Amino acid sequence: MPIEIKQIEPHHIEGFHAVLDAVARERQYLAFLEAPPLEAARMFVETNLARGTPQLIALSEGRVIGWCDITKPNRPIYSHCGVLGMGLLPEFRGQRIGTRLIRAALDDARRIGLHRVELTVRESNAQAIALYKAMEFRIEGVKRDGVRVDDRYENLLMMAVLF
Ligand SMILES: CC(C)(COP(=O)(O)OP(=O)(O)OC[C@H]1O[C@@H](n2cnc3c(N)ncnc32)[C@H](O)[C@@H]1OP(=O)(O)O)[C@@H](O)C(=O)NCCC(=O)NCCS
Repeated sequence: MPIEIKQIEPHHIEGFHAVLDAVARERQYLAFLEAPPLEAARMFVETNLARGTPQLIALSEGRVIGWCDITKPNRPIYSHCGVLGMGLLPEFRGQRIGTRLIRAALDDARRIGLHRVELTVRESNAQAIALYKAMEFRIEGVKRDGVRVDDRYENLLMMAVLF
């Protein structure tokens, strides 16, 4: 089934929100355990669109099945930096869709003049770490016990790539 990678549009926001929520509820990957309310997600996307920051989605038969965004911190001294987040529905993982999404998002980041893209990832998330290393992200540090979910602590890796 062909998968389309494209910039998000306002009519995709509900689909994006549903995927974000599904991945968050897996409790294993993201920085939140459920998606923020739909209106907050709408504001997030609309702000990113207005700022022209990279916000890609993957579509299967018109349905949103994944995303990759790079947001810009709202401070002048960090204006060269972007913060990357991404995810796919479980049944679409391991098919190099993540590779396509992150490549497109990093291309956009270069195009808008970002110098550094950073992220945090849980130490157990081998697939995401492999993907980021393949995109030339380096591990810059470890937040020891940086995450606690269901009373279990986990280290958080800080990774970044410079252009
Ligand atoms: C992380 C994620 C976006 C990666 O996307 P994906 O489409 O599944 O990954 P890809 O198929 O493009 O694989 C990327 C690389 O991961 C590696 N990889 C694949 N499966 C792996 C596994 N089980 N363990 C370790 N590495 C693995 C491979 O090296 C692969 O590159 P290759 O195909 O060139 O050899 C996706 O798995 C996902 O949504 N995970 C849950 C949410 C998440 O972790 N988000 C990121 C939070 S920081």
